Amino acid sequence: MSPAEAKNQIQAISAELKQHNYNYYVLAMPTISDFDFDKKLEELNKLEKEFPEFLDPDSPTQKVGGEVTKEFVTVRHRWPMLSLGNTYNEQELVEFDQRIRKAIGDSFEYVCELKFDGLSMSLTYENGKLVRAVTRGDGTQGDEVTTNVRTIHSIPKKLTSGEYPDLFEIRGEVFMHLKAFERLNKERTDNGEMTYANPRNFASGTMKLQDSAEVARRPLDCFLYGLYTEKTLFKTHWESLEAVKSWGFHVDNHSRLCNDINGVLEFISHWDKERFNLSYDIDGIVIKVNNYSQQQELGFTSKSPRWAISYKFKAERVETELLQVTYQVGRTGAVTPVANLKPVLLAGTTVKRATLHNADEITERLKLHEHDTVFVEKGGEIIPKIISVNLDKRKPDAKPIAYITHCPACETPLLRTEGEAAWYCPNDEGCPPQIVGKMQHFIGRKAMNIDGLGDETIETLHSRGFINHISDIYDLHAHAAELKQMGRFGEKSISNMLDGIEKSKQMPFEKVLFGLGIRYVGETVARKLAFHFKTIDKLMAATEEELTAADEIGGRIAQSIAEYFSNEKHKQEIEKLKAAGLQFVAVEKEVTLASEKLAGQSFIISGVFEKFSRDELKDIIEQNGGKILSSISAKLNYLVAGDNMGPAKLEKAQKLNIPIISDQELLDLIS
Ligand code: IVH
Repeated sequence: MSPAEAKNQIQAISAELKQHNYNYYVLAMPTISDFDFDKKLEELNKLEKEFPEFLDPDSPTQKVGGEVTKEFVTVRHRWPMLSLGNTYNEQELVEFDQRIRKAIGDSFEYVCELKFDGLSMSLTYENGKLVRAVTRGDGTQGDEVTTNVRTIHSIPKKLTSGEYPDLFEIRGEVFMHLKAFERLNKERTDNGEMTYANPRNFASGTMKLQDSAEVARRPLDCFLYGLYTEKTLFKTHWESLEAVKSWGFHVDNHSRLCNDINGVLEFISHWDKERFNLSYDIDGIVIKVNNYSQQQELGFTSKSPRWAISYKFKAERVETELLQVTYQVGRTGAVTPVANLKPVLLAGTTVKRATLHNADEITERLKLHEHDTVFVEKGGEIIPKIISVNLDKRKPDAKPIAYITHCPACETPLLRTEGEAAWYCPNDEGCPPQIVGKMQHFIGRKAMNIDGLGDETIETLHSRGFINHISDIYDLHAHAAELKQMGRFGEKSISNMLDGIEKSKQMPFEKVLFGLGIRYVGETVARKLAFHFKTIDKLMAATEEELTAADEIGGRIAQSIAEYFSNEKHKQEIEKLKAAGLQFVAVEKEVTLASEKLAGQSFIISGVFEKFSRDELKDIIEQNGGKILSSISAKLNYLVAGDNMGPAKLEKAQKLNIPIISDQELLDLIS
């Protein structure tokens, strides 16, 4: 094969695999078997090895941050993970109740629980320690995702109270809260990454990541609803829920005991309306016979228990007219399409707009035409979704909606990075919503939190030509007289604003760093970077390898940081901010030495640890006189290795004969 042919072939297979990843992770609708996917991946890998000059760091073969995941260990469930029979109306529930009463008589109770819309997970605890987490899979066997599950704060890694058995399994639903879903999806939109269609897909996509540092960045939660033990410990399901709550598990407080089916129906009608006020998605109610011996008497069908059933809520769906598609440009230049709808009442609120994720949603999935009549549904998200088009109502001469080709704000031709879903405007220096958005991000509550300066003022000051860059904010004091003359702001508000700006010069380095708005550098990442590198100069000088040596910094983030600081304009901006007196040095936590036992020794920490975060291990080393290095070299004394450590690091350490120790062995060095 000629190099030119190889290049084409590599690009074609890459694009195809990226599309399959999108179908699998985002749409949750795979169109290829795992086997065929793996075959194609192997073919790509082979070509890339043969023609390394065409290896793209963004290739599906290179992803540790996630999309390619076929690498989990398969584990058989000790007790099969069954599903539940579904009902959609009251009549079917009454029939379920009749079947139960026929089998066990009238004397029993139901437990009603919310049906959380996430992915089910089975957790095994041995002597109070979480030893294994497995997804449902096909019900008989699932993927072992323990390292990922350990990042979920509400799942105890070690039980500290209660009389739990030596060995037990507990099952529940892993899910993402709506607020987290919207925040992370917005971050992804800003970054031009594909967004997830709903919190369930986001949660299950997250669990499938190979990179548990990325999992840790995405807050997940878990409600537990089923205890499995060799010997029956409790008489009823309700008692077991109370017990597991006392052992430290997160059990939903909305569950209720009901004496009969009327109580169940009341519970259902209450939650049919109230569900929209929850902080997470539910898609129904689960009804379970409470008493375990009665459950046993009722038994199972091949697929589901006879003692439980789920009632699925009808999704609220309305029909309305699409007025037009408008486009918003975010601070990073990513363009988001929005459907403007003829106002319509849906689940108690008037809906005027719907999300349209990206271009494919308009031109591929929905194939929207002008003034289409669309079905709108309220899922988890606060902004509803267009489910489909009512084709019967489409006018024969309606024109298909074409995605815009130029920025709606500055007319610059839009670009799309291969493999990414969003189009973006590359004119970051001249596109008003990007300029204004960047400054609004900088002054925002989570960044510099500047008192007396709000989003609208930023817009006004920009449109009047006072500010174009973040650094211009710190020159505003020189324009106080002009600002007064403008007549738009009172004397008091100008002096409040200037005071606020002056005070912001004391905001710590990590806030400044977050405020710069570097792609993928959110609050947590900014904090980690500030404390790892200590100064902006060291951060700017860091290589990608040194960047990834920092806690929770993956390749994608490192690449974005390196790219940002390689831009001359960004460097000049930082110089101006330095000259204005902003903080670019992290304030050191005072380290009181616990001992000198590690004096003269250097360490690198890599991977994920069960008992400690990497920062905690770093503190332990530093408090005992040791030093942390940022990259592996012959000078290094120890590599402290946890789970999922990068193979390249391991290989390098082995080559240099550097001792590789566990966290426990590190503690042994000190004790
Ligand atoms: S009990 C034997 N309780 O719904 C069945 N499941 O359709 C054990 N789910 O796979 C499941 N909330 O992922 C149960 N409160 C709840 C639930 C719940 C959500 C999910 C779970 C299960 C699916 C069954």
